[in-house]
Amino acid sequence: MPGGVSSPVRAFRSVGGQPIVFDRVKGPFAWDVDGNRYIDYIGSWGPAICGHAHPEVIAALQEALEKGTSFGAPCELENQLAEKVIEAVPSVEMVRFVNSGTEACMSVLRLMRAFTGRDKVIKFEGCYHGHADMFLVKAGSGVATLGLPDSPGVPRSTTANTLTAPYNDLEAVKQLFAENPDAICGVILEPVVGNAGFITPEPGFLEGLRELTQEHGALLVFDEVMTGFRVSYGGAQARFGITPDLTTMGKVIGGGLPVGAYGGKAEIMEMVAPAGPMYQAGTLSGNPLAMTAGIKTLELLSQEGSYEKLEATTSRLIEGILNAAKEAEIPITGSSIGAMFGFFLCEGPVRNFEEAKATDAELFGKLHRAMLERGVYLAPSAFEAGFTSLAHSDAEIEATLQAFRDSFASLQA
Ligand SMILES: Cc1ncc(COP(=O)(O)O)c(C=O)c1O
Repeated sequence: MPGGVSSPVRAFRSVGGQPIVFDRVKGPFAWDVDGNRYIDYIGSWGPAICGHAHPEVIAALQEALEKGTSFGAPCELENQLAEKVIEAVPSVEMVRFVNSGTEACMSVLRLMRAFTGRDKVIKFEGCYHGHADMFLVKAGSGVATLGLPDSPGVPRSTTANTLTAPYNDLEAVKQLFAENPDAICGVILEPVVGNAGFITPEPGFLEGLRELTQEHGALLVFDEVMTGFRVSYGGAQARFGITPDLTTMGKVIGGGLPVGAYGGKAEIMEMVAPAGPMYQAGTLSGNPLAMTAGIKTLELLSQEGSYEKLEATTSRLIEGILNAAKEAEIPITGSSIGAMFGFFLCEGPVRNFEEAKATDAELFGKLHRAMLERGVYLAPSAFEAGFTSLAHSDAEIEATLQAFRDSFASLQA
């Protein structure tokens, strides 16, 4: 397997060393094949918001398994999950299930183009929307607006219609609209960024994008693959009170099984085949096992107090991390929203990807190793958000903070 992994983010390239091979996961913990236990802050990169292998999710899956692993035909479970998503996410009136966040984002872009009849799209530097060609555009300034591909194998022609702007920079978006009259189908963004490290939208940014897109007859799309059901039950759009036209989802709504989804205003979603002419399909889409895990996960999350608990756990964690670094006189800036957090090892503020690059990545590599030695598994990159779950109790948070205090002290020495 290239690099020994099935997805590059799992490798330890940017922090040094070899990736850890897991044997099993449960609650807030992961065990490696040598039997070492880690408190896990990746949560399978987002899905495990109720904790790994939640007994109710496992029981529901066992029951569903008896009925078969795939139908290739409509099933009631799809309707149940669709209902839950529509009820929770303000922009979603109709939804199509797919198998990954990548698929959701590539499909939504086709829909944005189909609906508006325009080809150009605006994305933000440092925002990740899966690995489809059109989104793999260099995030650096200068080449940014040229739409140069980020990876060999991506033809220039595929990314030529992808325009990029710095996150939190409304003026740059205004300029792109002015330079490309009636040519931009819309703006897609992570409403809270998790893929350039953890970056929050500045007050007025999401509102500004809503106004600008409306003004130019373009669509606003929130990629809530990461933030959906994580920063609040209704995602970032419910939390910030800004309703986009379309939304992509994944991770949590599959409860740990492969899932993605895109949805939005019925008027737009009616374009999707077979209701409309925009083609998009999938052999395993709406898979009964994935739907089952998703339904049970959303049921658990909708229990009273879930988000208060997630919020309290995560704030306590990030405050503790910031204090531990300050005590060790290590520059740090960071924050959390809902069950998502992150920090950069620099003074801050960090409002976009360019500013994020000020983080001391070498020091982060050392911190990552020090934390692993102390039984805490953080994302192996200085540019990834962290995730908590309902299974992270006070005991795990305290143990994690002690590990941070010890690790920061060891770095200082
Ligand atoms: C915001 C966002 N969009 C899209 C994706 C792609 O999802 P997947 O890895 O399921 O293809 C990710 C994955 O991390 C993501 O964080």
